[in-house]
Formats: sequence, structure tokens, C-alpha cells
Amino acid sequence: MKKPLMYYMMVTKEFSDPVAQRPVAVPYTKKWRYDMRHLMSPLDLSVEELDKLLDLANDIEKNPQKYAHTCDDKRLATLFYEPSTRTRLSFEAAMMNLGGKVLGFSTADSSSAAKGESVADTIRVTSCYADICAMRHPKEGAPLVASMASTIPVINAGDGGHQHPTQTLTDLLTIRSLQGRLHDITIGLCGDLKFGRTVHSLIEALVRYDNVKFVLISPEELRIPSYIREDVLNRNHVEFEEVERLEDAIPQLDILYMTRVQKERFFNEEDYVRMKDFYILDKQKMELAKEEMFILHPLPRVNEIAVEVDSDPRAAYFKQAQYGVYVRMALILTLLEVDVSC
Ligand code: CP
Repeated sequence: MKKPLMYYMMVTKEFSDPVAQRPVAVPYTKKWRYDMRHLMSPLDLSVEELDKLLDLANDIEKNPQKYAHTCDDKRLATLFYEPSTRTRLSFEAAMMNLGGKVLGFSTADSSSAAKGESVADTIRVTSCYADICAMRHPKEGAPLVASMASTIPVINAGDGGHQHPTQTLTDLLTIRSLQGRLHDITIGLCGDLKFGRTVHSLIEALVRYDNVKFVLISPEELRIPSYIREDVLNRNHVEFEEVERLEDAIPQLDILYMTRVQKERFFNEEDYVRMKDFYILDKQKMELAKEEMFILHPLPRVNEIAVEVDSDPRAAYFKQAQYGVYVRMALILTLLEVDVSC
């Protein structure tokens, strides 16, 4: 029997606990999930809820008109303290597709954070203006702190190097749509596995499905954090291997999930420059891959996938960005408890 998963909170001293400078493991319980209408981690949704949400996203893709006025009287606030193209715009497109309205800010500098306002005060005020909020913040734990002060559902739209649960919903919908299943797959995660929040969230979500094997492809310095290795992979007896060469891993994969080496997470430029072109997926490497292996990438891409790969039918990263709109529409409807049965 699998041991229960732990929910990891990365709370820095600016937000609450003055001593918690490292991840704090909290047992994941149903009470936690159902008492809060927020989405901080993929674990806030059970596998059954996740499957239902993905089914809803698929129906939205097929029948967009059916949902066009389901949020006519609702507002989404996008509070983005860190740059974004896909997450913010796909959230805004999602709410507009549902008939709702959007408001918010796209940089900390253009909000009263620049004057020293706390995240908790900002969400209290935002709760007066909107029905639901998506928050991105460079500090791990900031959306969680917001959720504790909020009277509206808060969605973690990426918190530092910690979690990015709506990217995970996007990834799961993409994998399920392309491969037809989330179980019995071998997935390669390649690049910055240390700071890559999309990778951390995706692993936490996928370990709950049967017979998923992970191939963790990274340079030594950017290996997966030990709390994911020990408490998520090992604790759940999940099969995984850690390798450095992409060429060695690629032939066995059903999904290759490429990630960018993130300049903004490095403390010094020299380390970033040394690491940034460690992996470049090109046509030559794609010749080693299965015919039915799909390439995913949360984007933005820098150099890690050569542009020549874009025309390969297995390149699914732009399609993935489109799935992000359907799944965020499904999430908004779910968290706002909008009745979509008729
Ligand atoms: N995938 C993703 O989070 O992209 P953005 O940073 O553009 O939102």
C-alpha cells in the first residue's frame, strides 16, 4: 500500500514562519482539501476530482458554446508579481470564454506592493473586487499565505521554485489527450529539475497513477530536490532513474518534458551561462525517439528545443498551451462551483 503523500509548503520568513527557510512537510488530508476552495498544489484535487476536471476540459474543447455564459456575472483577478505570458493570458482568456470579466496587475511594480503592501492585505482588498484570483509570486508560499487571508478562491499560478499546479493540469490534459492515458507511461523530465516548479508539480500529480516511470535528465547541479526524491518518489515506491545524457534516455520515452534553465532562479550569472545550453533537443536527437513519443514544454523556450523540431508531428508544446485555456476554464467553473450539468 502506498504511503500518504505530504504537501510541501515553502514559506519564507517574509510571509509567516520566521524559521521556515526550507520546505515544511504537512500530511495531506481530505480535511485540508475540502475546507479550502483554493488550488495550491495538484494534491488539492483527488485523482477522481482530477479526472472529472479533465473530462470537463475535454467537453469545453468540444462544445465551447455550451459554456460561453456560465460566468457572465463573475470576475477573475490576476495578481502577477512575476512575468508571465501563457499563465496570465490563458487565465484571462479562460474567464472571457466563460463570459466573465478580468482585472489585475502584471508586475509587482504596477501594484501597491511597490509601496510595501503585504500579500495578505492585497488579497483582502482583491476579495472585494473579484470572485476568484490567480496569483503568481517569486516567493515560495506567497499564494498559500494569500489563501489564508482570502474570502475568494485563490489559485497558485506559480510560486518561486516550488509549485505550478495549473501548468500540471495543462500537462495532464495534454498527455491524456495525446497518449490516451495517464498510467503506464515512461516520462522523461529534462533540464532544470532543481528550480523547475512545473516538474515538481507534475511528479506529485503523476505518482498517483499506476505504472508511471520517471527518467530524470539533468546536470548534477540541477538534479531534483531531495524532498521530491525521498518523500514523493521513494515514499511512493515509484520507479525512477537519474541520468545526465538526453541521448541515453530518449529511446525509452513516451513523453519527453523539456524545461528551460531559468535565469531568474540563479544567484550568479556565471552558473547560469555554464548551464543554459546543456540540453538542446534537435532533429538528430529526435531520430532516437519513438514514433509516438510526444514532446511537451511548459514554455517559454530559450535554446533547449531547436526551432527545426517545431515541424515534427511529435512536437506538442504549442498544442499544450491551447489545452491550458480549456483546463483553466474547467478549474474556474469547479472552484466557483458553477452548475454545468444542463
Ligand atoms: N508555462 C508558463 O508558466 O509560462 P508563463 O511563464 O509565460 O506563464
